[in-house]
Amino acid sequence: MVPSLKRIDGRLVNILDQGTGPAILFVHGFPLDHSMWKHQIEALSDQFRVIAPDLRGFGTSESDDDQTTMRQFADDLAAIIRATDGVSKVTLCGLSMGGYIAWEFLQNHPELIERLVLCDTKAAADSAEARQTRFENADRVLNEGPAFLAEGMMEKLFSKSSLSNKSGIVEETKQVILNSSPQAIAAALRGMAQRSDMTSTLAGIELPTLIIVGEEDSITTKDEMETISQSIPNAAFCAVPDAGHMAPLEQPETVTNAIREFLKTNPTS
Ligand code: MLT
Repeated sequence: MVPSLKRIDGRLVNILDQGTGPAILFVHGFPLDHSMWKHQIEALSDQFRVIAPDLRGFGTSESDDDQTTMRQFADDLAAIIRATDGVSKVTLCGLSMGGYIAWEFLQNHPELIERLVLCDTKAAADSAEARQTRFENADRVLNEGPAFLAEGMMEKLFSKSSLSNKSGIVEETKQVILNSSPQAIAAALRGMAQRSDMTSTLAGIELPTLIIVGEEDSITTKDEMETISQSIPNAAFCAVPDAGHMAPLEQPETVTNAIREFLKTNPTS
């Protein structure tokens, strides 16, 4: 199935909605779109209703924001769920920035979520230096476009073996970044720079949770994700060999199987 544009709260949002069964909401990372979840969408829509939007400004979703906070993205997701017939709660599955959004979603829309899957993300806020770099990159992308970001990010997003042997996914991801709106990229960079440290909220998460990390992720390391997993009372942990930050694209079967097994062992009531 192909995604389609839906008007939600007056704004066009591109949403893929495929399959039937308990709903899984896939939330993409920065500065990407819903297609990063294409393998999981294809495989899991045999048993689940898979909903995968482009976040505001990304893909073909509209935005005119100068800054988009993680809370705003989370509120957008809540509006999408409320506008989707037959869905009252979701399993939220977010990667990296999708995880930052998930923390805000948990705080502000707990009635809409029943299980949580977090891939390659952080609970901590940015350091002062990282924040400064984000603000500089936001200005730069508005002046120059996203090419410098796309060039700089590939080595961080993928494991060494994916960079050498999986040029297809590396090139596809680069194209998604090159096609992203500079304004949306700048808005998300400013929003991420100002996100809160969510570490102290982890112990209060009561939902069944699965933490997934590519073993070679250099942006959000295995150690950091393992610490998150140990801080959440009801969390399972899956480290994916031969994968970096983009584990769902690099090792699709391993990630899909881990999600499917988690959903099977934690059924909805
Ligand atoms: C992502 O994949 O969403 C980014 O790495 C998040 C970030 O820049 O912190």
